[in-house]
Amino acid sequence: MRCVVCPENGPPETLIIEDREVRPPRPDQVVVDVAAAGVNFVDALFVAGSYQIKPPVPFVPGSEIAGTVHAVGPDVVGWQPGDRVLAMTGLGGWSEQVTLSPFQLLRVPDALDLDAAAAFMQSYATARFALHERAGAQPGETLLVLGAGGGVGLATIDVAKAMGLHVLGAASSAEKRAAALAAGADAVVDPGTDDLKDAARTFARAHRPDATGVDLVLDPIGGDLAEPALRSLGYLGRYLVIGFAAGAIPKLPLNQVLLRNRSLLGVDWGAWSMAYAADNAALIEMLLALVADGDLHPTVPTRYAFDDATIALNDLLHRRVTGKVVLVPRA
Ligand SMILES: NC(=O)c1ccc[n+]([C@@H]2O[C@H](COP(=O)([O-])OP(=O)(O)OC[C@H]3O[C@@H](n4cnc5c(N)ncnc54)[C@H](OP(=O)(O)O)[C@@H]3O)[C@@H](O)[C@H]2O)c1
Repeated sequence: MRCVVCPENGPPETLIIEDREVRPPRPDQVVVDVAAAGVNFVDALFVAGSYQIKPPVPFVPGSEIAGTVHAVGPDVVGWQPGDRVLAMTGLGGWSEQVTLSPFQLLRVPDALDLDAAAAFMQSYATARFALHERAGAQPGETLLVLGAGGGVGLATIDVAKAMGLHVLGAASSAEKRAAALAAGADAVVDPGTDDLKDAARTFARAHRPDATGVDLVLDPIGGDLAEPALRSLGYLGRYLVIGFAAGAIPKLPLNQVLLRNRSLLGVDWGAWSMAYAADNAALIEMLLALVADGDLHPTVPTRYAFDDATIALNDLLHRRVTGKVVLVPRA
């Protein structure tokens, strides 16, 4: 069984391919043939050894997968070979096969291909958790999405439109802005050339003439855009802190939170999903039902073979990717 292995912590170049023995499953386990495995920022942090959880090396990275059930232990009910599934693996997903508890598996709706399914859970669950559970977003509200052409950004646009929000996407390249529009954004802005605050206020006023700014900002980037994004929030605006893809953790002037009674809201979907497993399972089932009903439209991710895992991770880390990335066992 081929897998991508992190033999020691370091940059993506440290990754190697290994052939490993398939571990025989216990009677209560399921073996899944991995069709595709998601590549996420957190995987790069695991490889670098800079995440708060540091798995001992060597380890197989890969936090989410989709594939088909290969074999089912005799104590397992409800699953059979050939079933299309997706799962959070935490680690170990960049492997031709994974052995999982049946409770980790979710059925993939026919409307979702396995590549898109492998890249679905982290970004869509984060988007929904942020907008619904954390911000209590309401239909008709306006939302500025930073990193709108990235994985979380595109998922957020899709989820937000399904919730009836008006969405302005900010992204650095024409390709990413086109992807944001294709995902359903009502308008896009280039924060490199346009004044983000002015663009956001104009957008908000187009939807509510007395608006003093947008109702919501979703920020997976951090860095230099954080302050103008905070300033673009209107009265009672909420700022959703998702991540720091730019590397720098911004320091924000707190007077800008006091003004207009704004709120800063932290979003840690991973921690919530572990602390409230039943609520998280319901959230994901609901998202998959929306996909099945045609109300959500996950984009097709860019594929890389396992052998190109280093390239995939570097492309993600260096902003070269639009949308999501998956690794497939063979090209
Ligand atoms: N809090 C949570 O629960 C949660 C859940 C999932 C992910 N996250 C975090 O959210 C962040 C984004 O994840 P993602 O999957 O959307 O990543 P992604 O697909 O790589 O998108 C991130 C976007 O950030 C922008 N960016 C700006 N400076 C960058 C830099 N120096 N390096 C890389 N990207 C840069 C890029 O957009 P432009 O080129 O348009 O600027 C890029 O498209 C990550 O930090 C991830 O760890 C948090």
